[in-house]
Amino acid sequence: MSDKKVIAVVGATGAQGGGLARAILNDKNGPFVVRALTRDVNSDKARALAAAGAEVVAADLDDPGSLERAFAGAHGVYCVTFFWNHFSPEKELENARAMAQAAKHAGIQHAIWSTFEDTRTWVPLGDDRMPTLMGKYKVPHFDSKADAHAAFTGLGVPTTFLLTSFYWDNLIYFGMGPKRGPDGVLALTLPMGDKKLPGIAAEDIGGCAYGIFKRGSEFIGKTVGVAGGHPTGAQMAASLTKALGEEVRYNAVTPEAYRSFGFPGAEDLGNMFQFKRDFEADYCGARDLTLARSLNPALQTFDQWLAQNGSRIPVAP
Ligand SMILES: NC(=O)c1ccc[n+]([C@@H]2O[C@H](COP(=O)([O-])OP(=O)(O)OC[C@H]3O[C@@H](n4cnc5c(N)ncnc54)[C@H](OP(=O)(O)O)[C@@H]3O)[C@@H](O)[C@H]2O)c1
Repeated sequence: MSDKKVIAVVGATGAQGGGLARAILNDKNGPFVVRALTRDVNSDKARALAAAGAEVVAADLDDPGSLERAFAGAHGVYCVTFFWNHFSPEKELENARAMAQAAKHAGIQHAIWSTFEDTRTWVPLGDDRMPTLMGKYKVPHFDSKADAHAAFTGLGVPTTFLLTSFYWDNLIYFGMGPKRGPDGVLALTLPMGDKKLPGIAAEDIGGCAYGIFKRGSEFIGKTVGVAGGHPTGAQMAASLTKALGEEVRYNAVTPEAYRSFGFPGAEDLGNMFQFKRDFEADYCGARDLTLARSLNPALQTFDQWLAQNGSRIPVAP
């Protein structure tokens, strides 16, 4: 029987968890094996993980009993929630609490909670620089993750708080890629002014998490931020111009304009970008590139990510 330690990975068929699952699977001589959690063990992605050597088990964040079963006997757990599937901060908090409780119940040695800053520390609810959303948040999908920190610490779960960054994959899947303007020129629209936007290939977050697990207790009780680069909007547009072989302009709109775009989550994202813009030094400072690269030596820069993925960015002819 293998004496390797089990890492149970929530969201293993998705972006962050998938990156972690593949990082463990690809390191055949590493200290861990992966237990991939999925709601559907028969999906193509679940089968692909099983074929690559993962233990695949059924679990649903909305079913705490299934999490307890899936975490049992594991050394470590990767905990992530899926805000954009339901747009509910309350559900995100409830799901995070269920993971923290299951981790406690299983006596987990190391949990990683994929999280963000509590933006209300910088912009209290009474501060009208940006609107309060849903009654008690500035950036709901950040603040609710930060609200969940107390669930892990309160139960005494040995936890690393992993501050993630903007996925460059959003240019492919999230409708944030360059759009053609009335003049026919492609434009990357972001409300970042001339400030830096820490970003990362979603897959690389998992690689960083793997580095954290490998370094044992070093990061337990600590907050670790990761990014593959800190490009400005103008620098991203210049990189896109090179990668797509066509001019891409940076269209720096105001956060107010972004909030009014009307797509689901536009106000949340408008506030999020404003937070990153207005508190650039703190936000970038919390995502040290050297530390992230030491955790994941394969960490890609924006240009490297574009070289691999630029052709997948949907661009209207
Ligand atoms: N977009 C960004 O720029 C960005 C940046 C940083 C952080 N984030 C955060 O990343 C989080 C999402 O992570 P991700 O991008 O890795 O997700 P993802 O790629 O959408 O993956 C979601 C996976 O999670 C599983 N899942 C969904 N609901 C579940 C449930 N109720 N119980 C168990 N598993 C469930 C699904 O697997 P099955 O279908 O196999 O069950 C799915 O494959 C969000 O909270 C978001 O705020 C996003």
